[in-house]
Amino acid sequence: MMKSEFYNIAKALIYALEIKDPYTSGHSYRVFKIAKELGQMFDLNDDDQFNLEGGSLLHDIGKIGIKDDVLFKPSSLTFEEYTVMKTHVILGANIVSQIPNLKRCLEPILFHHERIDGKGYPHGAERDDIPLIAKITSIADAYDAMTTNRVYMPARMPEEGLEEIIRFSGTQFEPVVVEAFVAWWQKKYKEKDPILNADHTLSAKLEESLLIDTSKLH
Ligand SMILES: [Fe+2]
Repeated sequence: MMKSEFYNIAKALIYALEIKDPYTSGHSYRVFKIAKELGQMFDLNDDDQFNLEGGSLLHDIGKIGIKDDVLFKPSSLTFEEYTVMKTHVILGANIVSQIPNLKRCLEPILFHHERIDGKGYPHGAERDDIPLIAKITSIADAYDAMTTNRVYMPARMPEEGLEEIIRFSGTQFEPVVVEAFVAWWQKKYKEKDPILNADHTLSAKLEESLLIDTSKLH
């Protein structure tokens, strides 16, 4: 499949997700952007870089299949609700597996909530069993989630987001990816890049994210 065809399909899927969940609009695109730039620091080959970009963009697509009362619950989830929420990684992999020849694109989707200490989900995979492109997506996702307002938690400052990523190095996150993230963050901080502080920059979040320009995705 041509890259441009894939991105058109991805854009349609993200559009569908954001119709359901405008609250996290922009999240998919920011995670994609962070993951893409981290991938470039690892000198991935073209296939890996593409699988990282596509998979990180679609990492939460399975949330389309999560019931609204679980997805939008403002307080903490019960054990049963959390079990439902966790299925979004499997649902997402199932959705994207309908597109032929994108097997490795599924890695960031299926593994982005795994932890290197084996305490993540869905499989409790450990360090060496988690693909690098999923480890990269996991950090991009966690950082953006922390620094954005969520129904269950207000946004944290970029510095706090960075500290949290460092705190979980070696347990949740792969240290070598944390190192790359710290270098990336410091560079963006110096450049005053708005990506570090998503909530303060995306004033018209919904419109902006629904009008993703595919040229940005290349
Ligand atoms: Fe997720």
